[in-house]
Amino acid sequence: MTQLDLDPHPPAAGPGTAPQGRVLHLRAAGVSLVLDVPATSLPTVVHWGADLGELSAAALDDLVTAGRTARANNDLDVPQPPRVLPEQSWGWSGRPGLSGHRAGAAWSTRFVPTGVHVEERAEGGRLGLTAADRDAGLTLEVEAELLPSGLLRHRATVTNTAGPGEQPYEVAELALSLPVPPVATELFDLAGRWAKERVPQRRPLTFGSHVRENRRGRTGPDAPLVTALGPAGFGFRHGEVWAVHTAFSGNHRTVVERLSSGATTVSGAELLLPGEVRLATGEQYRTPWVYAAWSAEGLDGVAARFHDHLRSRPHHPRLPRPVVVNTWEAVYFDMDLDRLLELARAAAEVGAERYVLDDGWFRHRRSDDAGLGDWYVDEDVWPQGLHPLVDGVRALGLEFGLWVEPEMVNPDSDLARAHPDWILRGGDRLPPASRQQQVLDLGNPAAYEHVLGRLDAILSEHAISYLKWDHNRDLVEAGSGPVRAPGVHAQTLAVYRLLDELRARHPGVEIESCSSGGLRVDLEVLEHTDRVWASDCIDPLERQDIQRWTTQLLPPELIGSHVGASPSHTTHRSSDLSFRAGTALFASFGIETDLTRMDAGERAELTRWVALYKDVRELLHTGVVVRDDDHDPSYRVHGVVARDGSEALFAVVQTGTPDGSLTGRVRLPGLLPRAEYEVTAQEPGNDPAVRGGRDLPWLATGVRLNGRTLAAAGVTAPAMQPQQLLLLRVRRA
Ligand code: DGJ
Repeated sequence: MTQLDLDPHPPAAGPGTAPQGRVLHLRAAGVSLVLDVPATSLPTVVHWGADLGELSAAALDDLVTAGRTARANNDLDVPQPPRVLPEQSWGWSGRPGLSGHRAGAAWSTRFVPTGVHVEERAEGGRLGLTAADRDAGLTLEVEAELLPSGLLRHRATVTNTAGPGEQPYEVAELALSLPVPPVATELFDLAGRWAKERVPQRRPLTFGSHVRENRRGRTGPDAPLVTALGPAGFGFRHGEVWAVHTAFSGNHRTVVERLSSGATTVSGAELLLPGEVRLATGEQYRTPWVYAAWSAEGLDGVAARFHDHLRSRPHHPRLPRPVVVNTWEAVYFDMDLDRLLELARAAAEVGAERYVLDDGWFRHRRSDDAGLGDWYVDEDVWPQGLHPLVDGVRALGLEFGLWVEPEMVNPDSDLARAHPDWILRGGDRLPPASRQQQVLDLGNPAAYEHVLGRLDAILSEHAISYLKWDHNRDLVEAGSGPVRAPGVHAQTLAVYRLLDELRARHPGVEIESCSSGGLRVDLEVLEHTDRVWASDCIDPLERQDIQRWTTQLLPPELIGSHVGASPSHTTHRSSDLSFRAGTALFASFGIETDLTRMDAGERAELTRWVALYKDVRELLHTGVVVRDDDHDPSYRVHGVVARDGSEALFAVVQTGTPDGSLTGRVRLPGLLPRAEYEVTAQEPGNDPAVRGGRDLPWLATGVRLNGRTLAAAGVTAPAMQPQQLLLLRVRRA
């Protein structure tokens, strides 16, 4: 650890506190981050990308010199690089890093470093820098950390240091940014909607701003998730890629900006509503973390950095991800104890390990019209409480989980009748209803304490191992308190606090982040929860794509996926059980259909899939996710390769009808190039009758090929019907 001129939290810039300039080089997992940290201005990212190897101080200085831009006609007399927090006071004409003002003043800053704290680690390291603008009455803290996964993350904190008599400082936006080199000419991110979350989109990177804004008060089905830039045509397995993720579950904004100078920057920020953050003297505002991944090997390389980072967290789930049976699409609101116990017995028979009672168990909740907020077990439906069900489920050897939606309230509830002032609203009017519900103001301490108390009581009274935490509407006109001040910022932080408090009080309880399906999927919510529900759509054809793109950020073990009914309840499309199960397999696996009505044959087949999941979950939940670039749009090939390259499981998925009648080859990427592998069909799911009745000659014997050949030449794909898949087990010979 090196400490330079150090006062980690100086009150303000002043004579004698200025640090010495230096160039900092952090390296981890094939990534270099070079920061020019001058004494008199905020740092500049000189290089974020491929590992540059060991560089001397002189070479680093030369790297800075080599990166200085030439002065063009009509340019500033001394051209300036974009700093981590771009400031207009240095001539930056793009989006400033800090937008804000103090009653119209202090709208443009020039921060001067006051302390630099560098921690160099064997893998990566951290820069903590404090700076001040005495005229503006502000201090700034910048934190940038290169993690052992090679993932970079940064955030900033601004503090109002003006005297007590001064006006508050209103923050409109605070965002650090990263430069992306000119070789990146194409921009990729995700969009989507309910039941079709995370749809990819691409466009050339043109001059101007690509701005993705979210004002839903939750992460959203259409969040960019990962904003990636690279050379035209970059894919899963090729192309250098620079990518960012804004880790926030409230309103947020991700911006890619290309200026006429040619400079391209990417930034992520919380989207603050007007007046939402007004700092009184001594108060501060901290941005969300923004995570950034560079990869030489396309989007799979980016995903691998996110997955490595998530798996390295001390609180990452380490126990095998249990087979879940969820009651929602099995019984909906039919809370009949006998029926639910029968479902639990069927669940135990197929090998399930966790039983989750979904919506409908609490007071007044006979449909989605009423009851949200009344977090008491409904005495009419459950005269003996939930205990007979909880005990019955646990006696079968299953864990018990419970659905809650703590941030919400139905106007038709005892809670809303007793505390109408606890509802977020912009004025005397209520926001437009969505699923007949409104949002509780958790920024209100009384409302917060009430919800915390009820959840704590339920968890204390019952042996509950799991909460499915739902959130089924956008925050619209979310005004808080007597003046109806914008409340999304406070609400989002309150939810994080609530989750943390419950986890502290009930350490064994895992929490799933659900929001109308997959509308709260981000890295910050996963700091407070243990899995996400990827989508309300469990039609496997849709799920193939939803999961394909959710794994761009999250490893399979954090993504909930269930085997549903056929026809699907959301799309009415029919599908074979093998397609449904083979799709859910590559995630945190579960079942969400009325098992008691499944015929014996199907139940036996599902039992085999559950057994396979248990057999392969360690591989799937620790290995490297690989996705082959689609050569034929009617096929998808994806898989997971063990970290040591010793084995892999691939799925060859036929999503549509190929144009040609001859099947082509599919490639199996990501294996050790020189190692020999046996490739065989993995049962179940290899029934030729299911695959369309046609045999594939090589499947009868399997083949032995090395990793290089499997990645480059591949194997012939089976002739299948649309919506069928074949699993291939690959083992090192
Ligand atoms: C939306 C969720 O995504 C579903 O899985 C289910 O829990 C319902 N809410 C219950 O109301």
